[in-house]
Amino acid sequence: MNPVEAIVFDAYGTLFDVQSIQRKLEKLYNTRAASIGQVWRQKQLEYTWLRTLMQRYVPFTKLTQDALLYACEANGVNAQPEEVNQLMEAYNQLDVFTEVHAALQQLSQQVPLAILSNANQELLDRATTYNQIKPYFKDIISVDAVEQFKTVPTVYQLAVDRLKVSAERVVFVSSNTWDVAGAKSFGLQVVWVKRKQDAIVEQLGFPPDHTIEQLGDLSSLFFS
Ligand code: 2OP
Repeated sequence: MNPVEAIVFDAYGTLFDVQSIQRKLEKLYNTRAASIGQVWRQKQLEYTWLRTLMQRYVPFTKLTQDALLYACEANGVNAQPEEVNQLMEAYNQLDVFTEVHAALQQLSQQVPLAILSNANQELLDRATTYNQIKPYFKDIISVDAVEQFKTVPTVYQLAVDRLKVSAERVVFVSSNTWDVAGAKSFGLQVVWVKRKQDAIVEQLGFPPDHTIEQLGDLSSLFFS
């Protein structure tokens, strides 16, 4: 195993728990919330891939709002502007998963940490400030810098360039299976945080190097 010189985290689903948005959806849209939430997440991902292929970058907040409007229309809901604002505002105030603070505190004493996310810089700054996790990171890296989304290699290269550490010495941590495949294909060491029991590895030929259940398992994996 290569020595670890930096640990880089994905943001949504890995550090930040998007469940609180689902609760807001339920308040607003009742029985249609589950379906809206599911279509919203799927469209948000599709739009990152499509816009990258189309070379039509827009910031993640705009893309996420577009995906929400699609999901509402697909479910027969005429979303009002103030509802859309409320739901988008929830992205600034997402909770982190319960173990995140302790894990980051411990790891940050061992190796430089960073975030590499599809989200725009402003959103990342707000979300990390809200949760008081910003000081743990040496760098918070947004795809804004290259105007393309994961899983293009250019995005993962950003982490290597900004941290000045060679790819095989960077550990990338994500709960998102498509992100795991992208980072591994690029050449990073990859840890999959399997937060959902029924999640499975993508059949893309790039499985993770390690699988853990929560971020508290990282320290013993690399530093004991
Ligand atoms: C990211 O933070 C959206 O989880 C994805 O890049």
